[in-house]
Amino acid sequence: MASYFSTLVFITLFLFSSSFFFLTLSQVTSSDESDDDGCDNRWIYIRNLPPRFNLDLLINCSEYPLFDNVCPYLANHGLGQKTHNRSYSWYRSDPMMLELIFHRRVLEYPCLTEDPFSANAVYLPYYASLDALRYLYGPEVNSSAEHGLELFEFLQEDKPGIWNRHMGHDHFLVMARPAWDFSQPLENDPPIWGTSFLELPQFYNVTALTLESRSWPWQEHAVPYPTSFHPPTLELLESWIQRARRSKRTALAMFAGGGGVSATPNIRRSIRNECENNTANSTLYGGYTKLCDLVDCSNGICEHDPIKYMRPMLQASFCLQPPGDTPTRRSTFDGFLAGCIPVFFEDQSAKSQYNWHLPADEFDSFSVSIPKEDVVFKGVKIFDVLRGISRGRIRRMREKVLEMIPRVMYRRHNSSPGLRTKKDAFDVSIEGTLQKIQTRLQELNLAL
Ligand SMILES: *[C@@H]1O[C@H](CO)[C@@H](O)[C@H](O)[C@H]1NC(C)=O
Ligand SMILES: *[C@@H]1O[C@H](CO)[C@@H](O)[C@H](O)[C@H]1NC(C)=O
Ligand SMILES: *[C@@H]1O[C@H](CO)[C@@H](O)[C@H](O)[C@H]1NC(C)=O
Ligand SMILES: *[C@@H]1O[C@H](CO)[C@@H](O)[C@H](O)[C@H]1NC(C)=O
Ligand SMILES: *[C@@H]1O[C@H](CO)[C@@H](O)[C@H](O)[C@H]1NC(C)=O
Ligand SMILES: *[C@@H]1O[C@H](CO)[C@@H](O)[C@H](O)[C@H]1NC(C)=O
Repeated sequence: MASYFSTLVFITLFLFSSSFFFLTLSQVTSSDESDDDGCDNRWIYIRNLPPRFNLDLLINCSEYPLFDNVCPYLANHGLGQKTHNRSYSWYRSDPMMLELIFHRRVLEYPCLTEDPFSANAVYLPYYASLDALRYLYGPEVNSSAEHGLELFEFLQEDKPGIWNRHMGHDHFLVMARPAWDFSQPLENDPPIWGTSFLELPQFYNVTALTLESRSWPWQEHAVPYPTSFHPPTLELLESWIQRARRSKRTALAMFAGGGGVSATPNIRRSIRNECENNTANSTLYGGYTKLCDLVDCSNGICEHDPIKYMRPMLQASFCLQPPGDTPTRRSTFDGFLAGCIPVFFEDQSAKSQYNWHLPADEFDSFSVSIPKEDVVFKGVKIFDVLRGISRGRIRRMREKVLEMIPRVMYRRHNSSPGLRTKKDAFDVSIEGTLQKIQTRLQELNLAL
């Protein structure tokens, strides 16, 4: 079986001609327990899971239900293929691959320990969202309540002491979809939508990093959607930030997305109306040649093609970020990279989600908030609000957005030592997770 598996790994490696799988799952850094390594309270143990929970799930990448062929997105440890051959930092990344990206990055985390009993947190390298496809879109839709039970069984049977030490409260994993997709109540049979992973009492104690959390999350915390930008060195990061800083902003605002074509009033329809009407307005205003740029991304045509929307984002002062199918959107983070100031229409879109990465008390310094009810029902015009913002304030907000770029992007694995001195979205997520687990364990101790 083992040799069958390594043959497969070899074949896929060959097929993608890029480092695809983890050539070795051994830890990149060894834990050297000296005093001043800065690892106090930061030790992480990687739970060794059978390949059916991670690598095996990649083998059938060309035949997942619903999706055409996701194999290209597995390349480069989940970053996807480069946008073009000479690109150093830009990839065709798919957000669902965050589980792979994260796994690869944990392997180079400097405070790994091989002793589960001295770890502050236990990482489960389970590719939960890939495994969920068979329940969400595939033949096992009627067994959605069972998503996760097999993993739990393994954790109980194999070295149960690791789980029992803190009853799972120190365990965490990544689930690269909105939490809504894993919150189907157990009693709904057949399911309406989603698996029940986050509803299972078995996983109630485990911390899940999701792309979007529910309103009152206990288990999960939201982390940024992966964008297409994964620089390998500090120089490449800084030259990109310079480019975004100097970029000439010819449009006051832009919107990249689909939707807004339905007849019922909603925020995307309002944006589309206002934007279409303002696109036609050729009156020059404050140095802008147009007020609104609309990038049509319907039917997922922008998903793996960052050039389609990054250029317009670089050329706009504001990026409109209405809720999509769910309150959050990946485009929020693309906009940050472009130095495009986000305009939110509800707190659920970012403020109440990403407080590890985007501090809630600083939102006014880098974003604009216009309640969607005011736009849809009270006649507030988005462009009147934006035109009322002084150029000085726009400049300060943009500078703040640019300052936050490192925190919201996932740098390339195996990046330069210089770049590692900047905390990226992964580093911030790990910090938040360790803090959350520590707080939880302290509360439990107090309760005892
Ligand atoms: C991959 O697909 C084949 C054929 O559809 C199936 O027999 C096999 O169990 C699948 N493997 C995994 C790991 O899902
Ligand atoms: C990129 O390089 C590969 C291999 O060197 C080549 O086959 C491919 O055609 C190149 N693609 C482009 C768009 O230049
Ligand atoms: C799931 O259950 C519903 C209702 O009981 C049934 O109509 C449907 O065919 C089932 N789907 C599958 C894939 O078994
Ligand atoms: C979760 O934690 C609670 C309280 O610490 C404990 O009673 C319960 O058994 C734990 N659940 C599992 C599945 O270990
Ligand atoms: C945009 O123009 C259309 C057609 O003229 C009009 O019906 C609609 O009310 C306008 N929308 C806004 C938000 O001004
Ligand atoms: C175009 O914009 C200018 C400046 O904001 C405004 O005064 C004018 O009424 C607009 N024209 C049309 C046709 O909407």
